[in-house]
Amino acid sequence: MIKYYYSRKRRIVVFFYTTVNKMKLANEWKDYKILDMAKGQKLEKWGEIILSRPDPQIIWNEKTFPNKWKEINAIYNRSKTGGGSWNFKKKMPNQWQIKYKNLTFNIKPMGFKHTGLFPEQAVNWDWMINKIKSAKREIKVLNLFAYTGGATVSCLSAGASVCHVDSSKGMTLWAKENVQSSGLEKKPVRFIVDDVVKFVNREIRRNNKYDAIIMDPPSYGRGAKGEVWQFENNIYELVERMH
Ligand SMILES: C[S@@+](CC[C@H](N)C(=O)[O-])C[C@H]1O[C@@H](n2cnc3c(N)ncnc32)[C@H](O)[C@@H]1O
Repeated sequence: MIKYYYSRKRRIVVFFYTTVNKMKLANEWKDYKILDMAKGQKLEKWGEIILSRPDPQIIWNEKTFPNKWKEINAIYNRSKTGGGSWNFKKKMPNQWQIKYKNLTFNIKPMGFKHTGLFPEQAVNWDWMINKIKSAKREIKVLNLFAYTGGATVSCLSAGASVCHVDSSKGMTLWAKENVQSSGLEKKPVRFIVDDVVKFVNREIRRNNKYDAIIMDPPSYGRGAKGEVWQFENNIYELVERMH
């Protein structure tokens, strides 16, 4: 497949060939499982806890395993006015841990149906870990929009040093907990609570360089001082500044 990229700085169009990649599956989980999907809800098992969360991609109504839906601990229901809330069906802990290979993550049900982890990202963690290990030298990683640190923990475990940037103090604290739970607190990690765009601009001025930059930006977000991040308005400029 031929792709192209327009560099505003250099005023050139760069064409490059890519191989068509097959979608990679995060199928090496032991502590996380999708049990069933129906009626716009996904039934997932996180360790011993079963949660049902909305997913707009689930457009069919038939349950494949109706009995499994009787075991639910909590359901996230969307409200008609926007947002939503958790409905707790069975006694369950406020927070618990799950493992992915040698990594340990803290899970808790939060607003916006979040649990603090995107399990489908595990396939990317494995990819990063392999890249870092096979580089056979020290790799410096910049993790932007780093959330609860799934990628941070993975890269640290592979031997990289990581600069973790997120605008949310709460998420950064959670990422620190995940680093600790995985026994990686002595590894070289810097946690920065800041707006990604501001931080990247500062790093460019300081001529700080990285071997790898990870980012999983939201469609809309806020920096630490309320700076607006809008994917379609900001992503091009940010990527341009980073090479
Ligand atoms: C969807 S999460 C990223 C998920 C993460 N990559 C993972 O797999 O765990 C988006 C994160 O971006 C952060 N964020 C949003 N706008 C930001 C901004 N302008 N600067 C820094 N962080 C921002 C949010 O606090 C949130 O933690």
